[in-house]
Amino acid sequence: MWTRACIFDLDGVVVDTAKYHYIAWKRLTDDLDILFTEKDNERLKGVSRMDSLEIILEIGGKQLNISEKMELAAIKNKWYIEYVSRMTPRDILPGTLEFIDVLKKNRIKIALGSASRNTPLILNRIGMNNAFDAVADGNTVSKAKPDPEVFIEAARMVDIETGRCVVFEDALAGIEAALNAGMICIGIGDKNILKDAHMVVKGLYEMDLNKLTALEKRLGYE
Ligand code: BG6
Ligand code: MG
Repeated sequence: MWTRACIFDLDGVVVDTAKYHYIAWKRLTDDLDILFTEKDNERLKGVSRMDSLEIILEIGGKQLNISEKMELAAIKNKWYIEYVSRMTPRDILPGTLEFIDVLKKNRIKIALGSASRNTPLILNRIGMNNAFDAVADGNTVSKAKPDPEVFIEAARMVDIETGRCVVFEDALAGIEAALNAGMICIGIGDKNILKDAHMVVKGLYEMDLNKLTALEKRLGYE
């Protein structure tokens, strides 16, 4: 196997938290009289909390100072935490644990690479705090995707060169980040949207070692 480490995004790959981000942002935008749709929410996937707020304010044509922005982001996060605090191991997306198990049995390192500062809370709620060899998240890195920092940091933490890491991502910004890191990237979601990924599957339940090996072969890594 060419692949030595697999790095998983959290939101949209391991758990479906986009719906909770949406409800929390929606609550805030309703208060601010900003029209915010599910389609707009797509633009926030993989994007950091403050960058998400900037996009929302741009949609609503509102200009606020930094302390007002910090306050709004904190309110949104308080609501978001209320929702994710109710999550349980049943919220782990299908195929995740099975695929991770296969990788571990084949001595491939497992890391998490997420923009979320709520990563520890979510991993705790779903009972996966010991599932990864390393966790790089919004608390450990400062540059948001599409900057490759979070994936490079995850690779460093598991001590595997970036060129032998495979990233699983559901967001356009995340796919760009993985490619910027020089990693193989497998998109999770719609192949018509995630066009830049090296391969796209609907969910981790569609992944297995054969598919990974076939992809390595197709890309000329053996
Ligand atoms: C990403 C999500 O994983 O984390 C984004 O896709 C979110 O939608 C970002 O804004 C930051 O999350 P948090 O939990 O730190 O607000
Ligand atoms: Mg994501």
